[in-house]
Amino acid sequence: MSPTSTPSTRPQLAHLSAQLDDLRARGTYFRLRVLEDEQAPVCHYDGREVINLASNNYLGLCNHPKLREAAIAATEKYGVGSGAVRTIAGTMRIHMELEEKIAAFKGVEACVVFQSGFAANAGTVSSILGKEDFILSDELNHASIIDGARLSRAKIKVFRHKDVAHAEELLKEIQNEPGRKLVITDGVFSMDGDIGPVAQLCDLCDKYGAIMMVDDAHASGVLGRNGRGSVDHFGCTQRVDVQVGTLSKAIGALGGYVCGSRDLIDYLYHRARPFLFSTSHPPSVAATCIAAFDLLESEPERIERLWSNTRYFQEQLKTAGFDIGGRSTPASETPITPILIGDGRKTMDFSRALFEQGLMATGIAFPTVPEGKARIRCIMTSEHTRQQIDQALEILTATAKRLEIL
Ligand SMILES: Cc1ncc(COP(=O)(O)O)c(C=O)c1O
Repeated sequence: MSPTSTPSTRPQLAHLSAQLDDLRARGTYFRLRVLEDEQAPVCHYDGREVINLASNNYLGLCNHPKLREAAIAATEKYGVGSGAVRTIAGTMRIHMELEEKIAAFKGVEACVVFQSGFAANAGTVSSILGKEDFILSDELNHASIIDGARLSRAKIKVFRHKDVAHAEELLKEIQNEPGRKLVITDGVFSMDGDIGPVAQLCDLCDKYGAIMMVDDAHASGVLGRNGRGSVDHFGCTQRVDVQVGTLSKAIGALGGYVCGSRDLIDYLYHRARPFLFSTSHPPSVAATCIAAFDLLESEPERIERLWSNTRYFQEQLKTAGFDIGGRSTPASETPITPILIGDGRKTMDFSRALFEQGLMATGIAFPTVPEGKARIRCIMTSEHTRQQIDQALEILTATAKRLEIL
């Protein structure tokens, strides 16, 4: 073996190979599909042209000409990298402009941008609480919230999905404990597409003096006035202490942000570890996001198209007889559209068969979703044409019948 070739697995890592073998045996092992052109409703993965129902590119902004131009202009003006973490020398004027833009858009005092939505959640939850404190978290909250909660060393109490009465029961149990209490929910749940009970959880937080936090990753650009998110949708801007959003999905680029009071944001500048210990965005990313927020205001028709496509697609799936949630799982209320299959192997086989027929629709199995709740997860965008949606429905129906799913 030459010194540069990759060693085959040495005994030290044999446990990893064994786990991969286990995934293969269960039929849930996957290979990464490689996109060869732009993230678009019709594109090429692994050399095959497919209708794409798998991206989070809700509003088609990943390749919008104005965002592209903004990225190129910023690269020409400022170069390709920021060269440092924000607190050392990597805060560029354009980073501050983006934060001001988001804060104004959301109607809050201040905003801090992180390198990803994951970093925003994990960095925030882990830094605002300590080991005497309590976190009350919906059982289906995103992994980045769970990891942030673990890193904080606070005591974690998990309430049943969207069960506000259960959250209250847990809050009552700890109301006389000295620690702070944080209640946290996703605004839109990423695997089922249902909307979190933001207003009722705000009521609880007001009643028990708890901190209220919402992760609006899948609601940003989708719900609320001009895509301001679930917090705006419920009219709760003044009642949510910590609002997280992502720049990686509807906004079309990369990053995450936290909105709230000036002191919250100042505190995160001083204490959130991904902010302190990881280099800031290239200027092109900040410029892209600024242009995207402008578009949310100037092209609201994208959001209207997103919702009209979603309604059409979901109606047609139901008519065809698919289980798109609402029986054994929550019902989707947003463009995230699960097609419930149940068995992991069957789901992955279905996804592969769809791909062979020209449809990219990702299979999702345990551990991303609970055992027995595997599904094909489809996401509608504003840019799919009716013809593309109809063709996707035809492929879904014909393939499901062939595999005896329908
Ligand atoms: C609910 C939720 N929160 C946070 C994130 C993380 O966002 P990002 O992709 O920007 O890291 C995701 C993305 O997978 C998500 O679905």
